[in-house]
Amino acid sequence: MRFDILTLFPNMFSSPFKESILSKAIEKGLIQIRTVNIRDFAEDKHHIVDDAPYGGGQGMVMKVEPIARAIEWIKSEDPTAWTVYLTPQGKRFDQERARGLSSRAHLILLCGRYEGIDERARDLFVDEEISIGDYVLTGGELAAMVLIDAVSRLLPGVLGSDRSAEEDSFVNSLLEYPQYTRPSDFRGKSVPQILLSGNHSAISLWRRREALKRTWSRRPDLLQKARLSEEDGRLLEEILNSNDDCGMRIEAPNNK
Ligand code: 6GU
Repeated sequence: MRFDILTLFPNMFSSPFKESILSKAIEKGLIQIRTVNIRDFAEDKHHIVDDAPYGGGQGMVMKVEPIARAIEWIKSEDPTAWTVYLTPQGKRFDQERARGLSSRAHLILLCGRYEGIDERARDLFVDEEISIGDYVLTGGELAAMVLIDAVSRLLPGVLGSDRSAEEDSFVNSLLEYPQYTRPSDFRGKSVPQILLSGNHSAISLWRRREALKRTWSRRPDLLQKARLSEEDGRLLEEILNSNDDCGMRIEAPNNK
């Protein structure tokens, strides 16, 4: 899969993809990431990429011509490339949207800065607008990094064979169960006995119950869209009827 990042700050991308899983994915040729400096497509003497908004008001607007030339240059290589504009006004990015984008062969990620881009660049070139959450960043670059990470790890071969994107939090709309590794006792806090039992079916059941508990106490909204089995239903009932507060003293729903 190819990612072309259109940005005024290509240096921001110099290290995030040089470590760990994504760097290996690049080495293996599973993903290709290229930054394209929008400024290189400004044809005036001073390479101007922004200008004051028509009608007045604060800030600057990214000019349409450099964006148009940059996108058309990429599309002349590959007319099928899908253009995503990163903006707080876009649709909320989530696992489902990451999954959808992972089926595309080539994404153009247009990173907005300042007060955004000239509306005509949106109308003419943008296929999809995405926001990574309800807060404001100084530009779309960090959002593009988040998107590339979330999409890339879904591609076949990117995660090692011992890791599975299938079991992640959110895939089946539940948060993951708690994990432990050695030592079995740390400052008087011990690992749940069942995990040391070697009883794999009991461990699976415990983990499912913990995932349900955790989701119920931290993200009850996720339970609404989760596909729950009859057994899950029974486990949830058990949880709700038990004295276990699921950590609610620390994290009550809607309280944090
Ligand atoms: Cl995609 N861009 C900016 N500037 N802020 C954001 C965002 C994107 N997503 C959330 N906040």
